[in-house]
Amino acid sequence: MAQIIAIANQKGGVGKTTTAVNLAASLAVLKKRVLLVDMDSQGNATMGSGIQKNDLLYSVTDVLLGEVPIETAITKAEVGYKVLGANRDLAGVELAIAEQDGREFILREALKEIDHSFDYIIVDCAPSLSLITVNALAAVHGVLIPMQCEYYALEGLADLTQTIDRIQQALNPDLKIIGVLRTMYDARNALTRDVSEELEQYFGKKLYDTVIPRNVRLAEAPAHGLPIIFFEKSSKGAVAYLNLAAEMVKKSKVQKGMTA
Ligand SMILES: Nc1ncnc2c1ncn2[C@@H]1O[C@H](COP(=O)(O)OP(=O)(O)OP(=O)(O)O)[C@@H](O)[C@H]1O
Ligand SMILES: [Mg+2]
Repeated sequence: MAQIIAIANQKGGVGKTTTAVNLAASLAVLKKRVLLVDMDSQGNATMGSGIQKNDLLYSVTDVLLGEVPIETAITKAEVGYKVLGANRDLAGVELAIAEQDGREFILREALKEIDHSFDYIIVDCAPSLSLITVNALAAVHGVLIPMQCEYYALEGLADLTQTIDRIQQALNPDLKIIGVLRTMYDARNALTRDVSEELEQYFGKKLYDTVIPRNVRLAEAPAHGLPIIFFEKSSKGAVAYLNLAAEMVKKSKVQKGMTA
């Protein structure tokens, strides 16, 4: 059965989508079977995987509206993993399902149909706590939180952990933070180092050893519809995301009681 992970942070622009796309690609390089689910109507994870969001025959919207089985809506990307894509249609779903029974569990039920076919399912969330994000958090085993090491990152942290606690209590008893990732990291910056230390104290072992450096190649790759590993595999960004994937695989083996 797949390990299902949401990439979430209510704060915008912290590297959620960059992490979702590049982690999916790096896990695929490690021979894992990966599905990337785009739960953001911006469709950035879809585009960053080389799939034209406006040409999708079916998207995650159709799955949430119950119009097609999830297998039908999944596309094979050229980049080693599969994608359940999104586009602006997703913005209308919230209203359409608002009154429906079990509205928080639509994604969870859909993923049950296909989770045996994957090792990892990575769910990219939007920077808001909509019913769409609630669907994502109700469907996953854990949350990976990307964080930029800046002062305001810590301010948003309480909100985020509170949200996760609330969803854990009300909808998904299994939900936990599986890891916190430092993104756009600049070791020369004193504030980055200070915030990083605070994160170490706050999260302990949950903080990934791997840090993602600020790397212009990571910002350029999406315009080419490519994860960094296919865009410039020797870049610092590519190496960092491969290290993250390896660290994650190792951690989940340890959790399952296997030797790494
Ligand atoms: N490590 C990095 N180095 C340089 N640029 C980065 C890095 N990570 C992300 N970026 C750039 O920062 C911007 C925000 O990143 P991204 O879209 O991944 O954030 P997000 O959290 O998904 O944003 P949103 O909240 O809007 O969904 C993008 O332009 C992206 O290319
Ligand atoms: Mg995003």
